[in-house]
Amino acid sequence: MLNFEYKNPTKILFGKDQIARLAKEIPTGSKVLMLYGGGSIKTNGIYEQVKTALAGFDLLEFGGIPANPEYEILMDALALIKKEQITFLLAVGGGSVIDGTKFLSSAALYEGSEPWDILAKPIRSEKGIPFGTVLTLPATGSEMNSGAVITRRSTQQKLGMGGPGLFPQFSILDPQVIRSIPEHQIANGITDAFTHVLEQYMTYPAHAILQDRIAESIMQTLIEVAPIIMKDRSDYDAACDFMWSCTMALNGLIQKGVPTDWSVHAIGHELTALHNIDHARTLAIIAPNLYRYKFNNKKEKLAQYAERIWNIRTGSVEEKASAAIEKTESFFHSLNIKTKLSEYTADYKQTAAFAAERLKSRGWIALGERKDITPDDVYKIVEMSY
Ligand code: NZQ
Ligand code: ZN
Repeated sequence: MLNFEYKNPTKILFGKDQIARLAKEIPTGSKVLMLYGGGSIKTNGIYEQVKTALAGFDLLEFGGIPANPEYEILMDALALIKKEQITFLLAVGGGSVIDGTKFLSSAALYEGSEPWDILAKPIRSEKGIPFGTVLTLPATGSEMNSGAVITRRSTQQKLGMGGPGLFPQFSILDPQVIRSIPEHQIANGITDAFTHVLEQYMTYPAHAILQDRIAESIMQTLIEVAPIIMKDRSDYDAACDFMWSCTMALNGLIQKGVPTDWSVHAIGHELTALHNIDHARTLAIIAPNLYRYKFNNKKEKLAQYAERIWNIRTGSVEEKASAAIEKTESFFHSLNIKTKLSEYTADYKQTAAFAAERLKSRGWIALGERKDITPDDVYKIVEMSY
């Protein structure tokens, strides 16, 4: 096991009707800006619940943060935060609204002239103005971590940021919110969370038995509840397991003491930046092919995953590992998630060159747990995904 530090200060309020407890979590006298997305909260009752819970607070609103939160739109929110001297941010949404809020939390205290530098340089966010979240879509784990991913549409860039100053003060996780989520977003959430576990697991054996077992438990839980929650989003028990699995997949716990990869995400972000494909779907396109391409590096963990997750008990290490990749792809298909780039866009042929060039231009000469995935390898992996 590798050395590690672990601190996660986010308070979780989990369960039915927890939104009503909001007022107690925000310091009295705060000037609050509530941030939300394209309007789903206005039709599913969450907006009303938040407004009722915060009656008595000095409360402003900023809606319209799109999926894959856009820098240009967030800059309008930043101007409002400064003009109104906001002291507390409340994100009400999925990963996009929460990530946008994290950017604003950092940018509001940033002293440089160009907040994009926080992403482009990148600058670690040691501090931010305090914020909390009401999670409406289980998927990213952003509600209990300190990272964010922001898009700049004008330059087709999608970049990450983060730092210890960007943990939410609290996050409210009421699994009842799942009832209004469209089926394809549920599928995205399962796929994103599952791939988060894979990125922190599918490397090489690191004698971290507990981390492996926790990671495997999260994957097993997602596989078990996926068909239930896909069929019936009002199944509260399944909604609880789904929501908590997504949070646990990326709150830092399972990555401690082990090597991590994250190249599926790095490449996937380029597919979203170029073709506007949903984040989770880019992962399903890349992950199976990345595991095929880096097979020798990952075959021991792939074989362990084959045995423990997919119950593949016979065959050589290589045979089990290959079968596990096929099972993973079939799992994504069972969620109606397509795994070929050409199934998402007719304009796919330049994508390999675009992704490889982008990563190179950013100085990312090597990705992966062994830092041996070069831009040329990225080219080949993306080409395999056509
Ligand atoms: O905008 P509204 O109208 O609210 O609709 C949203 C949006 O269209 C809708 N939605 C959310 N909750 C709903 C709902 N619809 C009905 N009922 C509800 N209860 O769902 C759509 C997608 O929302 P979004 O927030 O974009 O989805 P997700 O949570 O998957 O977030 C994706 C973003 O998070 C980033 C991704 O790159 C992407 O930009 N990620 C953030 C991470 C992090 N901070 O740790 C890690 C992830 O790997 C990921 O990169
Ligand atoms: Zn993700």
